[in-house]
Amino acid sequence: MTDKELVMLAKEAMQYAYTPYSNFKVGAALLSKDGQVFKGCNIENAAYGPTNCAERTAMFKAISEGVREFEKIAVVASSGDYAAPCGVCRQVLFEFMPEGKVILDSDEKGMITYTVEELLPMGFGAKDIK
Ligand code: THU
Repeated sequence: MTDKELVMLAKEAMQYAYTPYSNFKVGAALLSKDGQVFKGCNIENAAYGPTNCAERTAMFKAISEGVREFEKIAVVASSGDYAAPCGVCRQVLFEFMPEGKVILDSDEKGMITYTVEELLPMGFGAKDIK
């Protein structure tokens, strides 16, 4: 699965975003180490706080299906510009794929890639709970 293919799947996922409040749609596609793809979109809520980001939707779908090892995740937004994962999503990604890649896409500027560790330096993880 190429980065570009994963970005295309993230765009597919974005069409299901439920965003009546922000109208900002996000799609994510998460590739597991055994080759499965889990797609996610953002799901908003009238109470705002319960809103779930696309990245966490994809990750929680995978974890709840018994899949815990991941290679990379692609994230796209309806703005057509880069949408970097929020702090909460970075923490969730750090739990399961600290060395995994995050691929962001912009219609004009193309793809850029970071590791989760780059996006969350000195992240708090299982190693810190002693
Ligand atoms: N959002 C995501 O889905 N992922 C991100 O990484 C950033 C923000 C969503 C949450 C909310 O539905 C909308 O974008 C505006 O913040």
